[in-house]
Amino acid sequence: GGRASPARRAPRPRERRRRVPPGLRRRGEPGAESIARGVAASGVLPASAVRTAPHRRPERAAAFASLGATILASNAQVVDDSDVIVISVKPQIVKQVLVELKPLLSEEKLLVSIAAGIKMKDLQDWSGQRRIIRVMPNTPSAVGQAASVMCLGETATENDENRVKSLFSAIGKVWTAEEKYFDAVTGLSGSGPAYIFLAIEAMADGGVAAGLPRDLALGLAAQTVLGAATMVSETGKHPGQLKDQVTSPAGTTIAGVHELEKGSFRGTLINAVVAATTRCRELSKN
Ligand SMILES: NC(=O)c1ccc[n+]([C@@H]2O[C@H](COP(=O)([O-])OP(=O)(O)OC[C@H]3O[C@@H](n4cnc5c(N)ncnc54)[C@H](OP(=O)(O)O)[C@@H]3O)[C@@H](O)[C@H]2O)c1
Repeated sequence: GGRASPARRAPRPRERRRRVPPGLRRRGEPGAESIARGVAASGVLPASAVRTAPHRRPERAAAFASLGATILASNAQVVDDSDVIVISVKPQIVKQVLVELKPLLSEEKLLVSIAAGIKMKDLQDWSGQRRIIRVMPNTPSAVGQAASVMCLGETATENDENRVKSLFSAIGKVWTAEEKYFDAVTGLSGSGPAYIFLAIEAMADGGVAAGLPRDLALGLAAQTVLGAATMVSETGKHPGQLKDQVTSPAGTTIAGVHELEKGSFRGTLINAVVAATTRCRELSKN
């Protein structure tokens, strides 16, 4: 992860004194529910420190309750009772929710938004708050394997960054980066699971074409992607080096790699990330 922005002020005395874990407001799935589930399962916070207010859909409230979260009567009460407020509503209603919460917020509270595409400037304008962290997770958050990137608002401290990092570490890996990178983050980790779903499906099709039963082919394809990804992140070796280690002279793997290169496999993936980034930029202008 990147370096924290320098803290602009020392933590408030109240924050230092208070050993109560921060309350975490979360709504929805996969967004809020998976964060809450991860937080509860990892023990970063006791589940009861996660607070939410009644949902229109009863199954949502039931899901939060089954995790041991505290269900309160209103958004206002959730904000009042929590140090960390996670905004996890559809991007188009973020403004409405922040305007509603504005009178209840103060710099004592840390606001966290996971709404896709909603910029720090808008979050600050709508909430009147400067102590904000914007996080961009991705859908593997639902299985504890998110790739999340966060950026810090004007008065968010290094301590705030660490708190949010520990919360989002419960659902995967977390990096800090400047907001100017967020469109590209969306093109890579935001949209990336879909690229890999296609790759897994295609590898399984290849297995079937080569004579494997479908179930076996799909299981092998998914596990192979998982294993390869784990090797890259755990060994710290360059993926090119790992590829070289498994391509023996005149062997089977180099024959497959040659076909991928003929089909512009790498160029296509590069183009996919760039196209999604460009599309994200276009959408954020509207
Ligand atoms: N999951 C990820 O990996 C990921 C990645 C990037 C971004 N995000 C972002 O996460 C956010 C949530 O996405 P989602 O798919 O979880 O959405 P979702 O399923 O629609 O959940 C939104 C939740 O917001 C609640 N809600 C609606 N109006 C509200 C209000 N006025 N006050 C309080 N709560 C309200 C809804 O409550 P009810 O239950 O009562 O309907 C629902 O539970 C989105 O902004 C999305 O861009 C998620």
